[in-house]
Amino acid sequence: MKILSFWNEAGGATKTTMVAELGYLLSTRQNEAGSANRVLLIDLDPQRSLTRRMGLLDDPSSKAHRLGATLNIILQEAENDFPEPFIPERMPALRVIPAHQQLRSLDNILMTDDSLLIGLRDALHRLEADYDYILIDTPPSNGGLTRAALVASDAAVIPMPTHIKSVENIENVTQVLAQCRRLNPSLQIASFIPTVYNKQRTQDREIYEMVAQQLSDLAPISPPVTERPAIFRDVLPARGAVALDQPGNPATQELNAVLDHLLEVI
Ligand SMILES: Nc1ncnc2c1ncn2[C@@H]1O[C@H](COP(=O)(O)OP(=O)(O)OP(=O)(O)O)[C@@H](O)[C@H]1O
Ligand SMILES: [Mg+2]
Repeated sequence: MKILSFWNEAGGATKTTMVAELGYLLSTRQNEAGSANRVLLIDLDPQRSLTRRMGLLDDPSSKAHRLGATLNIILQEAENDFPEPFIPERMPALRVIPAHQQLRSLDNILMTDDSLLIGLRDALHRLEADYDYILIDTPPSNGGLTRAALVASDAAVIPMPTHIKSVENIENVTQVLAQCRRLNPSLQIASFIPTVYNKQRTQDREIYEMVAQQLSDLAPISPPVTERPAIFRDVLPARGAVALDQPGNPATQELNAVLDHLLEVI
């Protein structure tokens, strides 16, 4: 089992998009035993973007609206029973643990005590026999929720739009990862994924070059995901994924190339 946290402290860095897209693609591929990968997606962001995107909030009576369906209970007490994962209607091979707005209150509490920060890791390791991959969507911050995810992970995956804001932010990202290594010494950066890339724009090309030159010492650089606002926007209300709804689109090819690269480096 591999546990990967998708994180970038910057907001709107395409973390949730990459968890949903790569999670879906992983579930369509086979594991070493020749059966479909068993993939669990965990939403640790109180904004609940991944939960919403998977369609779990559409029914007001769904249990996904309840705090008890989330990892709140595990984050407070690692020995507690793991919540029952949800099956998203349009991607039934995936399993999803939703988020709740009240997770926000844990962001500071988790920082107060190392034994709380390592709780998630202990709880996820109990799922070793159940999943091939666990992908965690993190909030755009460096608080306790993000750190609990990083401490629990084999590696961090860093999506980064090819904008100057992303590059400026990388120092913070590496600092937080270094701090998390105190509790998880083997934490790696699996890859930087350049996203929302527009090769017609000079600035995007320059930043892509800069990333390739300056960050490749820290971690492998993934093939890019091109900017396609309409394609990535339309899958949201459809509760789908680009690869599911637009299998012939070049975006799907790119996402498959990103996944191939990720599987090579982890
Ligand atoms: N390749 C792309 N081209 C154009 N738009 C994209 C692309 N990938 C993602 N987006 C859009 O970028 C926006 C931000 O993406 P997303 O919500 O995944 O970022 P995030 O890092 O999870 O944000 P937050 O920090 O709020 O959690 C979304 O509207 C998404 O549809
Ligand atoms: Mg998000």
